[in-house]
Amino acid sequence: PGPRAHLHLARRLTTMVSELAHDFGDDFLWGAATAAHQVEGNNTNNDWWRWEQIPGKIADGTRSGLACDHYNRFPEDFAQWRGMGHNAHRLSLEWSRIEPRPGVYDSPAIDHYRQVLGTLLGLGMEPMVTLHHFTNPLWLADIGGWESDEVVERFRLYARHCIDALGDLAHLWVTINEPNVYAYHSYTAGLWPPQVKDFRATTAVLRNMVRGHAAAYREIRESVHGAAAKVGVAQHLRVFQPWRPWSPFDRIAAALPHRAFNHWFLQACTDGWAGFPLGLRHRLPEALGTLDFIGVNYYSRDIVRFTPSAPGELFARTFPAPGRPVSDYGMELYPPGLYRVIRDTWDRYRRPIYITENGVADRVDQFRPAALIGHLAEVARAQREGIDIRGYLHWSSMDNFEWSEGFKMRFGLVAVDFETQERTPRPSAALYSDVIRRNGLAWEQVQNFYPSGLPYFVGGASSSSG
Ligand code: GAL
Repeated sequence: PGPRAHLHLARRLTTMVSELAHDFGDDFLWGAATAAHQVEGNNTNNDWWRWEQIPGKIADGTRSGLACDHYNRFPEDFAQWRGMGHNAHRLSLEWSRIEPRPGVYDSPAIDHYRQVLGTLLGLGMEPMVTLHHFTNPLWLADIGGWESDEVVERFRLYARHCIDALGDLAHLWVTINEPNVYAYHSYTAGLWPPQVKDFRATTAVLRNMVRGHAAAYREIRESVHGAAAKVGVAQHLRVFQPWRPWSPFDRIAAALPHRAFNHWFLQACTDGWAGFPLGLRHRLPEALGTLDFIGVNYYSRDIVRFTPSAPGELFARTFPAPGRPVSDYGMELYPPGLYRVIRDTWDRYRRPIYITENGVADRVDQFRPAALIGHLAEVARAQREGIDIRGYLHWSSMDNFEWSEGFKMRFGLVAVDFETQERTPRPSAALYSDVIRRNGLAWEQVQNFYPSGLPYFVGGASSSSG
């Protein structure tokens, strides 16, 4: 064959590879997520701010301080993300700003969030609003926080205020971000404020979070904006895999956190029962049927090994799978786990799913491109099997204050220089824009970044056709 034939062949191959392997379907939400305390700056009135001031609490010695100064810079930030193609954004409201003292609501703070949401809508970006993302107003922390039963009524009133004041500007509401992570870090592991290590306190907190969620769910759905609103939680889901699949001990050691950490909360909000091991058939009838959707936050897999010498860890040691790539955080990069948690969540609850967080701490952007395409390929695989997934919100829009790790862990599509507040998109940001522009994955992208996912797209229906 002569050069013309070669050219012809090359052209054909190029059109083939630029064809879509998967179309995510109409109305799919594309964007990223942030949380108030991690990006806004100067959230001086909450329990995290107070705790950060104690030397030694934050791993890299930093404090949230001005963070990304997003409280002031949100218009430019949103415009940048819109320019990257995002049509949605997940953010959280800072309770300590909205209700600085019990029962006292601050109208400038509400005006601020009205501007924030209005700016998003003006840009054509759908907001998803979280009411509680780890931080508590100081006054609440001082009356016992989520351990005290009083929190349920307090949270209900705060939710009512937010939906009345902001409900015309947002339809997607997350009541609580990662109740399981919050309860575990703050009340079992004692790593986050208020640094309690007590199993009974953990169960009390989780039960109050279910009750608080249920109360907020009702406030939102029964408000004047309720007909248009959809309410859910963002749950952190991990794959817990037994170290030796043949060992009944390792299997039980992995099954326990799967049940308690991954599913206890979602189960309670589905059937109104607080089950084993965090409550022995304790009824929580108000929680029955209080999830319009489930937000999935997925990061990693843990290998679990039964360890008799670790009673404090419920006889289970967890570690990343040996020999696999890990993020700056030391977490394994395991995209198939996203499919596994989606499948498991769908099979149990049959609720529409949003990926409300997924990302990787990767300062130099060496893993993020492949992680992004890999995880999206796994979302696509689940969609192709008929699972109702409505959006993907990457963690995070930009680098921010990573809780007790400080500013060292870099999760942003956009890098932030915290000295100058300069924003610089990482290469993955452009890759993500490319996916968004197509509303789909190209063969070429799967081939280049996640070849093991190629078989998902051979034959079968895509979401748009089925
Ligand atoms: C989640 C949390 C986010 C963010 C992320 C990255 O658990 O909701 O706020 O910190 O992890 O580690």
